[in-house]
Amino acid sequence: MSATGHTGVTVRVPAKVNVQLAVGAPRPDGFHPLANVFLAVGLYDEVTATPADALRVTCTGPGADQVPLDATNLAARAAVALAALHGLAPDVHLHIAKDIPVAGGMAGGSADAAGALLACDALWGTRTPRERLLEICAELGSDVPFSLVGGAALGVGRGEQLTPLEVGGTFHWVFAVADGGLSTPAVYGEFDRLTAGTDVPEPAASDTLLAALRTGDATALAAALSNDLQAAALSLRPSLAATLAAGTEAGALAALVSGSGPTTAFLVKDAEAARRVADALLASGTCVAARPAEAPAPGATVLGATVPGPEAAS
Ligand code: C5P
Repeated sequence: MSATGHTGVTVRVPAKVNVQLAVGAPRPDGFHPLANVFLAVGLYDEVTATPADALRVTCTGPGADQVPLDATNLAARAAVALAALHGLAPDVHLHIAKDIPVAGGMAGGSADAAGALLACDALWGTRTPRERLLEICAELGSDVPFSLVGGAALGVGRGEQLTPLEVGGTFHWVFAVADGGLSTPAVYGEFDRLTAGTDVPEPAASDTLLAALRTGDATALAAALSNDLQAAALSLRPSLAATLAAGTEAGALAALVSGSGPTTAFLVKDAEAARRVADALLASGTCVAARPAEAPAPGATVLGATVPGPEAAS
């Protein structure tokens, strides 16, 4: 029980992998136009909102020491934005139980923002319309709306304008967690450097890829996966090539960098192949963890009111 005796609200939010990330030349505002096919995967952070005297963020789990706990934390910014909308003070304790790799290209920070938004909305009883929540998400970051929605979606604009996509089956993945993170702006900057002076095509979703998602055909999806940020991530972190090779040698259908990296993603045939590829990746010594996960996963979900444990007490 918390010091105030109140219960909290816990929200579970999935990570994502980009099965297609088509990147255009930078816009005048510095953002890049995207055709971004998001797939939510079953690795989750949990965000618990508990009443408190002031806004406070705590975080536990792998990589928690790299998560900022001040007002720059995306979850804190989500609480502030929602409170401002309703004329409330953002007096809440947000506890983030991390399982999504930090700065890993799997939208962990975005997941925490979407989770905080939904948890605070439930805790405060503000019943914010879904469209308004999605607008706040888009203001917080390009990937935040998808963390709320989950499943699969095509994101255009800077990735925040979503159209839900149909998925015809379960896809099995393994994610290899790299040592340390990569900065998303740095990877986009490297993309600009590598493509300078070239004719960067307008980003467009691949019909073949969308059909593979729709039919749930893993082999077809494997052949259609693409990530225009991969060369930039590999340029900044050349050691990722060895991780990609280790997963391919172990029998993955396809290997790619997840978003801006440095997490690498391996599409496999089934749960048994996932275990085999995960074991081989770990044994290769080219990653610090290998995590099997299924997709699609649901978006941010309220797990219900909980009595916080001692580590989450305010
Ligand atoms: O929107 P978000 O805050 O997640 O973006 C982080 C950074 O990634 C941006 O500041 C920008 O450098 C880069 N970015 C981009 N084009 C996009 C999305 C993100 O250049 N469409």
